[in-house]
Amino acid sequence: MEFSKNILITGGAGFIGSHVIRLFVNKYPNYKIINFDKLTYAGNLSNLIDIENKSNYEFVKGDICSETEVRLVFEKHNISDVIHLAAESHVDRSIEGPMEFVLTNVLGTVNLMQIAKSLWKENNHVFHHVSTDEVFGSLGSEGLFMESTPYDPRSPYSASKASSDHFVRAFFHTYDFPVKMSNCSNNYGSHHFPEKLIPLVIHNIVNKIEIPVYGKGENIRDWLWVEDHARAIDKIFHNGKVGESYNVGGLNEWTNIDLVKYLCKILDAKLNRQDGESAQLIKFVKDRAGHDARYAIDASKLEKELGWKPSLKFEEGLEKTVDWYLLNQEWTEKITNGSYQQYYKKMYTN
Ligand code: NAD
Ligand code: DAU
Repeated sequence: MEFSKNILITGGAGFIGSHVIRLFVNKYPNYKIINFDKLTYAGNLSNLIDIENKSNYEFVKGDICSETEVRLVFEKHNISDVIHLAAESHVDRSIEGPMEFVLTNVLGTVNLMQIAKSLWKENNHVFHHVSTDEVFGSLGSEGLFMESTPYDPRSPYSASKASSDHFVRAFFHTYDFPVKMSNCSNNYGSHHFPEKLIPLVIHNIVNKIEIPVYGKGENIRDWLWVEDHARAIDKIFHNGKVGESYNVGGLNEWTNIDLVKYLCKILDAKLNRQDGESAQLIKFVKDRAGHDARYAIDASKLEKELGWKPSLKFEEGLEKTVDWYLLNQEWTEKITNGSYQQYYKKMYTN
């Protein structure tokens, strides 16, 4: 079958990438979707078990930092477009070891663009770079991040993402390279690696392990249902303007401690525990170094120009998420391969 586009989705075996792949494979049977992923600790092909046999889907194991592997996949599949999600994504890991973040997030992004630029001769291609709101830094109690907010990254993770964003813009301005960009707030939903706050808290409540809350738990995040992020990427990829960036967020701010307490309440009810029982697991631990106080996104450009809106209320999405983790407890055990306990011990018990 002749496909109208051959889209390379990088990082498709990870949390958000797997939701983007599922959406595109199901919604666009006339597109060939090539999932290019190195399968690091965060990449897991069982995230895509429901679509892996579809004729418009193919997995290619590879590293975005490798010139040979990227060139090969571009040439073999005649790649017409890229949606770039592959990254090292966890702030705590970036504090422990920044170099991997520089390599994957900066060098990997530039490598992909260099190769695409050398092969794309017409002007009908799109390189959609998926970025984060963390590049804007940290807000006080007022205000929202706009697309025009100056960059002020503060963690090694956000510095690496900011650097990759600058390279993406530089390729547009210098070479007319056809980029589109999105900067999204915190995602939640199924298949989220259990080092991140929401899946970690669910895991710990279920297994009656202490819940580590950094500092006083007063930091604020703006949470968005991962499938709504995937829908935003679909809109921006198809209808966004070349050279522009779009903020994506849920207007849904929670302090960490309120969110953790809310999860405790949901799970007390679902696990037939006494109201308040799981909250006893909460333990305030040493704060994250350089912990950003508040993120909150103004997504009005995306809403006005491209007609996107979050589809799901947080309470509903969180309940669905909890149900998914309760039904798929072996997923967490399998993907962490026993390392969850080691990771947890290393991070929180000293
Ligand atoms: P994730 O850690 O769950 O998945 C990352 C994926 O990239 C994994 O499948 C991994 O195997 C793959 N990968 C890593 N290094 C690679 C390499 N060198 N070559 C090929 N593949 C590689 O991450 P996520 O949370 O799904 O985030 C995806 C993207 O979205 C990232 O770019 C991240 O910065 C961005 N983002 C994430 C959030 C969030 O809340 N999770 C919010 C905004 C933006
Ligand atoms: O804002 C978008 C970003 O959101 C993405 O770019 C990142 O890839 C993604 O990991 C996420 O970053 P955060 O650092 O905000 O997410 P994390 O789940 O690690 O932490 C959420 C908040 O909860 C943060 O304030 C730190 C806090 N926290 C986290 C963990 C893992 C705790 O209090 N305890 C924990 O055990």
